[in-house]
Formats: sequence, structure tokens, C-alpha cells
Amino acid sequence: MRTFTTVALGLVGAAVASASDVSSLTKDTFSDFINENDLVLAEFFAPWCGHCKALAPEYEDAATTLKEKNIKLAKIDCTEEADLCQTYGVEGYPTLKVFRGSDNISPYTGARKAPAIVSYMTKQSLPAVSLLTKDTLEDFKTADKVVLVGYFAADDKASNTTFTTVAEKLRDNYLFGASSDADLAKAEGVSFPSVVLYKSFDEGKSVLPEPFEAEAIEKFATTASIPLVGEVGPETYAGYMSTGIPLAYIFSETEEERASLSAALKPVAEKHRGAVSFATIDAKAFGAHAGNLNLKPEQWPAFAIQDTVNNKKYPFDQDSEITTESISKFVQDFVDGKIEPSIKSEPIPETQEGPVQVVVAKTYDQIVLDDSKDVLIEFYAPWCGHCKALAPKYDILAGLYVKQGLSDKVTVAKVDATANDVPDEIQGFPTIKLYKAGDKSNPVTYSGSRSIEDLIKFIKENGAHGVEAVNDEEAGSKPAESAAKQAEAATESATEKAEETASEATEAVKTATAGEGTHDEL
Ligand SMILES: *[C@@H]1O[C@H](CO)[C@@H](O)[C@H](O)[C@H]1NC(C)=O
Repeated sequence: MRTFTTVALGLVGAAVASASDVSSLTKDTFSDFINENDLVLAEFFAPWCGHCKALAPEYEDAATTLKEKNIKLAKIDCTEEADLCQTYGVEGYPTLKVFRGSDNISPYTGARKAPAIVSYMTKQSLPAVSLLTKDTLEDFKTADKVVLVGYFAADDKASNTTFTTVAEKLRDNYLFGASSDADLAKAEGVSFPSVVLYKSFDEGKSVLPEPFEAEAIEKFATTASIPLVGEVGPETYAGYMSTGIPLAYIFSETEEERASLSAALKPVAEKHRGAVSFATIDAKAFGAHAGNLNLKPEQWPAFAIQDTVNNKKYPFDQDSEITTESISKFVQDFVDGKIEPSIKSEPIPETQEGPVQVVVAKTYDQIVLDDSKDVLIEFYAPWCGHCKALAPKYDILAGLYVKQGLSDKVTVAKVDATANDVPDEIQGFPTIKLYKAGDKSNPVTYSGSRSIEDLIKFIKENGAHGVEAVNDEEAGSKPAESAAKQAEAATESATEKAEETASEATEAVKTATAGEGTHDEL
């Protein structure tokens, strides 16, 4: 009986293992696996991590599809293989990395869905530019949602180099092909040198209008690949944010209404193509994101433009009707710079109660950008536990500069970044930055431990004044207190990297993208 059970269990185990096309690696098998396979996607995970669990079935699917292309997917359980994970600098779960042998490692930056993984890894497996003929062009045109084909003469080395450079830079995003067949170019309605972008939506293809130069081709790729009126969701959010083009959101709860609004606004989108991207967003699933755009919640449909570079918001009056005419005027005014961004701000505090200067959106420039001072500013959220833990220490820190007569050189400040629009992109709470006197354009983000000592050092080393407060609070502490401090310091270093994700609303839209905020903490 015992033998039978063992055998049966053994069989079950074997069946489960062979049913998966994802290879589980350990420190003993990792190196060989990476070296024996030309292209490997490795997932560093922890069994308890929610994002990892969500990824698992997608990852399995992708592994099965990619098996026939000889692209291997592997996973490493970091709770079992801590050293291996540390070697590869894993700081959150899941971490996905692309290995081409052991020396060429790059982060995976695609979405965490099976089709996206397949598409991303397929691109990785091809040369940056595929050489095309009249026999392969047609298939290539539909090999992905967007592909770019360069047409240039075989002896035109300059164009070849230009196109290849762009392809190498953007290979994670698009498929690139090239041909030097003049007849083929003619059949596609272009002459040497040119670039045609083929897409599975809208007009089907676009031709590079500008001169055949790297910068122009890059810009063309980003603008022509965006659907005229697309859709914001987990798959596309990161892409929209990275284009550098303002994004106009059309919020609606129903698919029918999204379709009709999208049809109504298409002419406006057409007119401003390349200057403003348009996309619908499902208000049922991602309605909370409206708050990030300073729209009132739960009042649909709604429309807003986001300047994705400076994170400024331009909500369209929710009591006005969304029509071709009203939005046409609104977008034109936006493009002409006639609309003021909406700034969310708490009221300016009448008095500053403690040593930490309380900053609100309306006083941000005045306090943080005060050119005469080194300004340390904490971006916090009221609900953030790590921020609460930091608060007493931050108060002591600020108090030191005040008491030691250094207030004319150093300001220690904080801002509730959930209640105030700040120009900074905040990924997690708390975020601490130093804006130094005389140069406010390059703030330094603090990444050290959240101890008073280290913060003082940071202000000294990165500030223009180079002043250092004396931490007499600590020097004067009694033995009992210092033991408590040591214990605290130990917890601190364990949670050093811990921060809480910036916005749950944004988070929902971003989920399934490989963006930073979607990792579980270590
Ligand atoms: C571009 O240059 C490479 C390297 O010289 C060459 O193999 C390729 O055929 C060229 N591409 C075209 C379309 O002529």
C-alpha cells in the first residue's frame, strides 16, 4: 500500500512537472540553462506575491506558445533561492529579465499578459531589422499590430545605418523590416528612401512624412502607431505615458457610449493627431483615475486632457455636454495654450505649526523653489504607514535646523501629494527629494535609510550650502533610549526600500504593465 501511494504520488508529480513549459530553476541549474538557451525570459517570484499569482497562468500560456520558437521561459522562487535572486538585483516581485547568455541581460518591459509576452519575446528573438523580399513582405505587414518597413537602396549606407539605429533603440516596441527592392517600394507607393508603418487599425498604413532622419523616424513611429481614438487600460497606459504627447481621456461607463463618443470625436482627434492622443477609458473599471485628472468622480461621461510630460490636468467642465463642437473648441484652446491647468491644492496654512514647513500646491513654488535655500521635501499620503513611521523622526530632523539657526539655508518640508498637485512624478510614498539652492531643476531623490543621521548627511552632501546640523538628540540619548533606537534602526533597514504605491487609481490602470509600482514589496 505504501509503495503504491509513493508511486502514485511520484507519477502525479511527474505529470504536473511535464505539463508546464516553464522551467523551474535553482542555483544549481540556472547558469547551464541560461548558457544553453539563446533567449530566456526569467521570472523571479515569491509564492505569496499576488502579482506573481496573477501572472502565473499568462506566463504558462506564453511559455507554451513560445516553445516552438525555441524561446524559453523560466522561473526562480526567491524564497528558496535568495542568493541567486540577490545576484540579479531582484528588489520586488515579480521581476522579469531577458537573458541572452549570462552577459547580456535586460529588464522585461512589456505587459504581463500572454499575448504581450509572446509579442515582446518574439521581437527579442528577431534581428533588430528583418530583411524583406516580395515573398515575405505581406506576412511581415501583419506579424504584429504595428510594423515599420524601411525602403532604401542597397548602396545607401547612410539610410541603412539611420534606420538600423532607430530599430535597435525601439526594438522592444515595434517590429522593423527593410527592403532594397525598388519595385517593391514602387508597389507600396513610395520611393527611396522612405519608411512605411503598417497597422492593423485605422487607415492601415502611414508613410513617413518628414525627412529620412533618426529623430523624425522615431517620432513618426510613436505617433503613427497610436490609434486615432484608442483605449486606456492596463495594456496601453504605460505606452501613452511614454509618448510625451498629451492624452485626452473620454470616460464612459458603457461600451455603446464609448463607441458613439469616439465616433463623434474622431474628427477632432484627426485634426490634432501627433499633438494630442485620444482614448476612451472604461469608467466602470477605472473611474477612480478621473480623480487624478481633477474630474469629479462618478459623473459620466467626462473628458479631460493630461499633459503627460508635466503632469498637468485640464478637465473639461462636467456640466457641459460632450459634443464634436464643444470638444473641438476645448482641444483647440488647449493646443493654443489658452486653458489654465487645474491645480488641486489644500488651502494655504495660516500658520506653520511645527518645524516642518507644510507645503501645499499654491505655495510649492514659493517654498520648494526658493532659490536661496536647500529644500528637503517629503511627498506623503495620509494613509501611508511608512510615512507615519517617519513623521516623528522627520519632525526632530526639521527641529535641528531651526534650533541651530540654519533656517536661512535649509528648509525641511512636506506635502500631502494626494491633496495637492505637484510637478514631480511620485511613484511611491514616502518620496523624499532635495532641491538645492541655486539649481532647482535637478532635484536629488533620497534612497538611503530613513534615519536622522543619514538624512543630515544627504542634505550636507547634496545641498548647495553644505551645512550639517548636529544631531544632539541622539548624542544626548540615554542607554535605554539608544537600545530602542537600535531596534528601530534594525527595522528601518529591513524596510528601507519599502514604500507604498502612489495612487491606487493609477495603479488599477497600470496593473499588468511591468511598471515599477506593480511590484509587491520584498
Ligand atoms: C543594411 O546593411 C546590412 C549590413 O551591411 C545589410 O546586410 C542589409 O542588407 C542592408 N539592408 C538593406 C535593406 O539593404
